[in-house]
Amino acid sequence: MNQAQATLHTARLRLVPYADEHYPLSKALDQDPEVMKHIGFGRPLTDDETKQVHDWLLKSCTYLPGFGTWVAYAEGHSEPIGWWILAATPKDPTKPTENFDTSRSETGYRLLREHWGKGYATEGSKEVIRHGFQGLGLNEVFGETMTVNKPSRKVMEKLGMKHVDTWFNEYPTPPPGIEEGEVRYRITREEWEAGQYESPPSSV
Ligand SMILES: CC(C)(COP(=O)(O)OP(=O)(O)OC[C@H]1O[C@@H](n2cnc3c(N)ncnc32)[C@H](O)[C@@H]1OP(=O)(O)O)[C@@H](O)C(=O)NCCC(=O)NCCS
Repeated sequence: MNQAQATLHTARLRLVPYADEHYPLSKALDQDPEVMKHIGFGRPLTDDETKQVHDWLLKSCTYLPGFGTWVAYAEGHSEPIGWWILAATPKDPTKPTENFDTSRSETGYRLLREHWGKGYATEGSKEVIRHGFQGLGLNEVFGETMTVNKPSRKVMEKLGMKHVDTWFNEYPTPPPGIEEGEVRYRITREEWEAGQYESPPSSV
């Protein structure tokens, strides 16, 4: 765990830095066909792939102070419900592991299926984005998903993010639905300040 990564709170969630103990959560997510339907290859990950994702999530806090992945514990549940990320992005996409951009971040989320449809993704993301703008001084937060991933797009819309790009890539093992392309949503600091800010609640 990176000491620079803050614990965050919302009305129903306590968001703690992703740690080694969260591997079972990550595995449950990455090996659920419904969760992975619109991610990566569009299929559940193998054990090796699951471990790679876990290592990537663990490492996400090491590139820039304060960035990283959070696991949420929800009121009334002893086990974590999912994760949210504010990822460091490289200034030069051809050099993905160096020279990170301190002014922008890519966000994303993955929740256990039994917790879908209760507003948790939106609630956690609101706080993670607030932290990005207020805590880290970002100028922009963006998110990407497959065009057909309607729940994820809806979450980004509810966060005040705007659809800014659609593109069509070819992949060696394309996930079903990729023929409809991928989309990027974005919110700038100005847009967030103009309407997105909500005071963080006192505690959980
Ligand atoms: C995407 C995901 C995080 C959403 O989590 P969630 O906690 O259910 O999200 P919320 O409850 O905050 O909001 C979901 C919204 O999508 C809407 N929605 C759900 N299914 C939908 C569909 N098929 N078409 C349109 N809207 C849909 C819900 O009605 C809700 O909007 P509302 O509040 O206006 O009713 C969750 O489904 C998930 O983990 N999916 C698998 C991983 C994934 O795809 N992650 C994103 C990858 S980029």
